[in-house]
Amino acid sequence: MIRSPHHLLIALVAVAPLAFTGVAACGGKSDESAATAPKSAEERRAAITANQIFSERCVTCHGERGQGDGPGSAALDPKPRNFTDHAWQQSVTDEHIEKIIKFGGSAVGKSAAMPANPDLQSKDSVVVALRQLVRRLGR
Ligand code: HEC
Repeated sequence: MIRSPHHLLIALVAVAPLAFTGVAACGGKSDESAATAPKSAEERRAAITANQIFSERCVTCHGERGQGDGPGSAALDPKPRNFTDHAWQQSVTDEHIEKIIKFGGSAVGKSAAMPANPDLQSKDSVVVALRQLVRRLGR
């Protein structure tokens, strides 16, 4: 149970600056972001966890804004995906993004440098929230 919505909001703002960049840049809440905004308590918790995981695991390679330019990207070929690439965003399904997050690049015919996340394979709500984060970075 979330006991204090206010507390949750502070936590969200603290851990999720990336997630809200797009909204702020648009000068307000767009219909699109409202439609995909986390709603249930479980979805909100999953979104917080996803933001933490993104900072801890993904930023190293994909960069803070998902532009594929994290510190770990220098030595990689192919480079980590640039999530702000609109053409790429349109070319992949949600299922594809969720699969590569769970099972890694080699599972979808991509670079094995993109690691699997075995601990998330049974946590669909967190994987969905990570995929939503990847999508938001592309807006
Ligand atoms: C060790 C570096 C590394 C880390 C850490 C990493 N990635 Fe990647 N990722 C890559 C590379 C390299 C590619 C490009 C693979 C290719 O194009 O063959 C990639 C590709 C992707 C793609 C695009 C797949 C496609 O079909 O183009 C997604 C989505 C993705 N990563 C999500 C994530 C998420 C979410 C995390 C954190 C949970 C993460 N990655 C962590 C290196 C990394």
